[in-house]
Order: sequence, then structure tokens, then C-alpha cells
Amino acid sequence: QTNIPSVQDVVTEFPVGAAITGAEIVTEHGQLLDKHFNSVTPGNALKWDATEPSEGAFTYAQADPLVSFAKAHGMAIRGHTLVWHNQTPSWVFTGADGQPMTATADDKALLLDRLENHIRNVAAHYGTDIGVWDVVNEVIDENQSDGLRRSSWFTVAGLDYIRTAFRVAREVAPHAKLFINDYNTNVPAKRDKLYALVAQLKAEGVPVDGVGHQMHVNVSWPSIADTKAMLDKFVPLGLEQQITEMDVSIYTSNGESFPTPPADRLLQQAYVYRDMFALFRQYRDEITSVTLWGLADDNTWLDTFPVTRKDAPLLFDTRLQAKSAYWGVVDPTKIN
Ligand code: G3I
Repeated sequence: QTNIPSVQDVVTEFPVGAAITGAEIVTEHGQLLDKHFNSVTPGNALKWDATEPSEGAFTYAQADPLVSFAKAHGMAIRGHTLVWHNQTPSWVFTGADGQPMTATADDKALLLDRLENHIRNVAAHYGTDIGVWDVVNEVIDENQSDGLRRSSWFTVAGLDYIRTAFRVAREVAPHAKLFINDYNTNVPAKRDKLYALVAQLKAEGVPVDGVGHQMHVNVSWPSIADTKAMLDKFVPLGLEQQITEMDVSIYTSNGESFPTPPADRLLQQAYVYRDMFALFRQYRDEITSVTLWGLADDNTWLDTFPVTRKDAPLLFDTRLQAKSAYWGVVDPTKIN
């Protein structure tokens, strides 16, 4: 399929990216990535467990080849992610006494020191190669009245971990756009808690440049109206908005499992991609990139989440052939 249009040539309003894990930078995967996408996000390689597995022992062996590939092919790079509650080694939250940290002044000071040291090293290693950072990831819990996730970060350091992370990232990478990233931002309760936090941070002068909407959706959820309401909610803040981890599961409940993707689900999926991209393209002044959470259906986190079953959430199938979903993005008249 060398004769089909490239996604990045058709969708010109913003860079279009894919998350990659490593396999994508060789052979046909690399060619497909290079042809269709002009942005990449290392899917795991820049997370804390990959870059600082033990204290002060920084290693970029996983991420450097991905960043080199992107640079060599003129692609933008989204840095994901400096601070998260998952994929963070337990030493980070272990106090000087060897016990799990608690909300003491000593533990808080140590945790914020480790946070600052981590960001200084990682952001400095990449310098201007990485133009966007997800500084904090998934900090919202809409079931808390204050909307803040009770992660170890929060229980030890309160909101100061977020303030510190943005302040240090701005200092070390002044060129970079600094994002707060989260999932289910099209759910009104979650959306509104995230909005409230971002508005507060902005009012405090915390250097947040943008809001990342992960957009892990499925063929029947959410509605385009809720997704539009999500964008409209954040536009008045005057920050950039990015779609950071989009995929469209073929499943609508945890109980389903198909050996191969049913034709009707693939058609529904194509319409979701069509309608979502049509919406995003209307927000060309606010949306500054759209990234899919993977390149092709042979490598997707949804194969093991929320249960183990074969999913098919991306634009290209397991043999790297363009799906109806691809045509939903590139030319909806060709969906079949
Ligand atoms: O690296 C180990 C390997 O050594 C081991 O043999 C193997 C056995 O399970 O596991 C490997 O680690 C896995 C890792 O991905 C790398 O493949 C972990 O088990 C697995 O849990 C991990 O999943 C990642 C997930 O984040 C973890 O939370 C997914 O690949 C990654 O796509 C996913 O990405 C997140 C975003 O960062 C944030 N938003 C949600 C998104 C989807 O969960």
C-alpha cells in the first residue's frame, strides 16, 4: 500500500503522531510510521522506571534510539511522562528510614528533591529535541471532592509536587510546551475537575502551557457532543490542547471477546475516527497535535487491558494494511 495517501499529508491542521515502543523503528513498521506520521511519543521509554530505575542511575538506552529515529525523519517528539503514579519505582516513595513515605516534612522534602533531580536530568538530556512534555500524567480523580488523585505523590507532597514539576521543567526546558495529561476528559465530572485544577494552577502562575486529552475511546463511547463539550470547556483558558493517546477499541464491554474483529465493529470504528478527526480539525487554532496510542493493531496495550483479548483500535491492521479506520481519517467517502 505504497500508493495510499499519507495521513500527515491529508491532515495538515496539526502534527499527527503515534506512540511507539521500539519495534516500530525497524523495517516496514518504520517505513509506515515515517510515511504517515510527523510526531512520535515514546510509549514507555521515557517513564521513570525506564529512565531512573534506581536513584541517580539515569539511563536513556530505551528512549535514545526512538528519539534518534524521530529526529532523523524530521518528526516532532512528545515527551511522556515526567511524573506519574504508575511505572515509578518504589524507591522514589521510600523514606530515608527505609519505610514508605508519609506526609511528614522530611519525607516531603526528600520526595520533592528526587522529583527535581529526575526532571533536571531527563529534560536536560533531551534539551530542545523534545518540544512537548507531559509534565504530570493522570493527577485527577473525580471521585475526590477536591478532584485530586490520592497517589503517593499527593499524599506525601500535596499539590506541591505538581507545582514543583512544572517549575523545574520550565527552568530546564524553557523552549518546551508543558502539558498536564489525563484520560476520560470527555466525562463531564472528570473534565470539570481537571478544568478547575488547571485554572487554579494558571491563576497561581504555574507554567502550564497545555492540556492533553488521552482519548482512549471505543466504538460506541463517548459521543461527539461530549468530546466537543470537552474542547469548548478548555478553549477559554487560552492554553494549547492536544489529543495525546487516541485509540478506538472495538469492544463496548469487558465481557466481549472476538477472535477477529467483526466487520460491523470495524465500520463503526471508521465512523468514530471520521467524526473525531472532523471535530479536531475544526479546532485547528487550539489543537496543536493529535497522537494515536500505537501504529498498528499488532502492538496495542488494549490486547491486555482491561482483560486479555485481541483488540484492533488503530488505523492499520496486524499486517500493517490500512483499515476502514484509516479511510475515516483520510477520505471518509472510501470507508467500506
Ligand atoms: O518491560 C516489562 C518486561 O520486562 C516484562 O517481561 C513484561 C511482562 O509483562 O512487562 C514489561 O513491562 C510492561 C510495559 O508496558 C512495557 O511493555 C508492563 O507489564 C505493562 O504494564 C506496560 O504497560 C504500559 C502501561 O502504560 C503501563 O501503565 C503500556 O505499554 C503503555 O501503552 C501504557 O500507556 C499508558 C500511558 O502511559 C498513560 N495513559 C494510559 C496508557 C495506557 O495504559
